[in-house]
Amino acid sequence: MSNRMRKVVFPVAGLGTRFLPATKAVAKEMLPVLDRPLIQYAVDEAVDAGADTLIFVTNRYKHAIADYFDKAYELESKLAEKGKEEMLAQVQGTLPHHVRAVFVTQPEALGLGHAVLCARPVVGNEPFGVILPDDLIVNDGRSALSQMADAAETWDAGVIAVEEVPNDQTHKYGIVATGEQMDERSARITHMVEKPRPEDAPSNLGVVGRYVLPARIFDLLEKTSPGSGGEIQLTDAIEDLLKQQSVLAYRFQGRRFDCGNKLGLVRATLHLALRDPELAPAVYEIAEGLR
Ligand code: UTP
Repeated sequence: MSNRMRKVVFPVAGLGTRFLPATKAVAKEMLPVLDRPLIQYAVDEAVDAGADTLIFVTNRYKHAIADYFDKAYELESKLAEKGKEEMLAQVQGTLPHHVRAVFVTQPEALGLGHAVLCARPVVGNEPFGVILPDDLIVNDGRSALSQMADAAETWDAGVIAVEEVPNDQTHKYGIVATGEQMDERSARITHMVEKPRPEDAPSNLGVVGRYVLPARIFDLLEKTSPGSGGEIQLTDAIEDLLKQQSVLAYRFQGRRFDCGNKLGLVRATLHLALRDPELAPAVYEIAEGLR
């Protein structure tokens, strides 16, 4: 049986405090980069990786995410009546037909690890992906998660996305130490340190929001006690996983934008606008005018 991941978990039950007051009423994952919400980029990435089941871990305030992927009867019939085929295709194309969306509630924001654990009944006993939609990864080729799923299958290992971060920024990331190099992009993780000061960091490889994990992580999460900030941390469970099987740090091909903060969202918006031949000239003009 193939051990390729087919299910992807989107933990979207956080409070999104860095975008208050907008996130009082709008889920952070629904913030748009140009004309699409962050969650759409994440879903496209998962579908590109071959996922057929998407599991959204939400809270009771985040109906907008379910609404967004649901059928919009009134809007669709109005667009059809008016012959607006292109818009209709956009509205209907948020989720491909062969992909199903499952919504699971995280009753309390007890941390990323806890959010992932909430998906256990749907994931069952197979490897699965995790995407944090506020890390937006743009690339021309195959999606970052797709690259990682290949590595997970090839090496029969857990895989965590990493990228080089500036030395003075290590305190904002989980930092990994690596040993054996498996191939050009993958190396075995020997240990992880959560948000170390630069002088304590074992490398400058920071963990970003993409994981391919084996189902046994759930047992480890069950046993994980609340760590920093009183939250159940995914990193703590991965530390335990390292004792049982190999987990690879994977340097993905692509450019990541941390859209969990204002500047990152602005950067991502500018980057995508400048890649769009229709928008780019006007955006340059606007930027010139602001100098
Ligand atoms: P963040 O650390 O970015 O927290 O969570 P946040 O609440 O989204 O945003 P800020 O820091 O308050 O502005 C990382 C990811 O984990 C999810 C978040 O939705 C985000 O995708 N998460 C976090 C949960 O689903 N549940 C939690 O209890 C905590």
